[in-house]
Amino acid sequence: MKTRGVYIETYGCQMNVSDSELMLGLLAREGYALVETPTEADVLLVNTCAVRDHAEQRVLSRMGELKTFKRPGGVLGVVGCMAQRLGPRLLERVPQVDLVVGPDGYRNLPELIARASAGTRAADVEFRGWEHYEDVPAQRVDAVSAYVTVQRGCDYRCTFCIVPMTRGPERSRKLADVVDEVRRLAAGGTTEVTLLGQTVNSYTDGTADFADLLRAVGAVSGIRRVRFTSPYPTDFTDRVFASMAETPAVCEHVHLPVQSGSNAVLKRMLRRYTRERYFEVVEGLRRAVPGLGLTTDIIVGFPGETEADFRETLDLVETVGFDDAYTFKYSPREGTPAVKIRDAVPDDVAGERLERLVAVVRRIARTRNVGLVGTVHEVLVEGFAKRGGLLQTRTRANKVVLVEGPESWIGTYNRVRLTGTTGSTFTGWPVERELAVVG
Ligand code: SAH
Ligand code: F3S
Repeated sequence: MKTRGVYIETYGCQMNVSDSELMLGLLAREGYALVETPTEADVLLVNTCAVRDHAEQRVLSRMGELKTFKRPGGVLGVVGCMAQRLGPRLLERVPQVDLVVGPDGYRNLPELIARASAGTRAADVEFRGWEHYEDVPAQRVDAVSAYVTVQRGCDYRCTFCIVPMTRGPERSRKLADVVDEVRRLAAGGTTEVTLLGQTVNSYTDGTADFADLLRAVGAVSGIRRVRFTSPYPTDFTDRVFASMAETPAVCEHVHLPVQSGSNAVLKRMLRRYTRERYFEVVEGLRRAVPGLGLTTDIIVGFPGETEADFRETLDLVETVGFDDAYTFKYSPREGTPAVKIRDAVPDDVAGERLERLVAVVRRIARTRNVGLVGTVHEVLVEGFAKRGGLLQTRTRANKVVLVEGPESWIGTYNRVRLTGTTGSTFTGWPVERELAVVG
């Protein structure tokens, strides 16, 4: 059989990256091979995000370009969260699209693609609450650092969020299955894993909880770094703190979405904590994990957010002292509870708040980072930096450090002294060389 080329473009979160690796694995079993450009492809897939309107608009305009690469008999498919959200509507909207498949339908991709090549367009947006793709070997691009999905879906109902509607109910993989996968990865040379879930620390397989999972994954021989994203603030337990503290592989970085610093706004968002509770969780984390890097997600302009509410967010950012934050303007998502809340914040007000927030986030990040210059860290060399021929490396606390060194260092660990910072990233110098110069 002639191999067919598949091209995948991925938008959105790490889970989408992980899902694309899964789809590649699935299609590889059926004789497809990954190609790097749309011109070489028989099958074009776009793995989409639906979290903000902006993300969807980008995909729609990209579809306009990608459809020109479609060959006779070729297939253009939209998969992921936007596919799930729009379903058959997407087939109507973009006539060149042949298939629309949501996150629980990837197992059917080979069949749907075959039918699409024969001229039958289809949408599969059924939720399959049992689906973990356990038998599908993901085809990963990066051998050293791997994403491992441990939980799919979300049972929270944050009023702004489309994810529960696009990824369905929460379910966790069996601990033994996760550990098996991590063992196989380690045997293949992987030393860093990032465990993925929408509220990853609510992980439970009926017997084991997230604390057990961290310990089990951290104990796999060859695994030097364990990361996870994203936890939900109130799903941290003392058991999890203890397991983070006692598992050497667990990295000193937590991405802890806060969304807002105002209790009134948090309540309307149906986030299940107050700012005071969030502070407690941060304290617990910092006590358990010295040197912790802490990042977050923040939404501004949520319906009803007043200037006073917004100042509470600025105040929370100052008080916690985040190392970085992803900041978003609220984007109304059709079908979510928040669209019914009155008192929309005018776009210019939201835009102005976003700018003020970004300035505060940057100032605090810079101050924290300047304070780290001169200190020594273990880094994993990830690859070449985008510019300048330097190597891009990462500390356990998730700081990016650019280092001069040979290509052969890629995939290895090194100790570097931070020599300078742009405010967000660092330059560094390998400690071994320092010794060589001194000695
Ligand atoms: N539980 C997931 C959240 C996925 S959405 C996780 O923590 O990984 C990622 C981020 O997008 C959220 O934390 C939130 O800050 C932002 N977001 C989600 N819905 C949004 C919306 N309607 N408008 C603006 N930002 C949104
Ligand atoms: Fe979305 Fe809240 Fe779940 S942000 S993914 S509904 S925890």
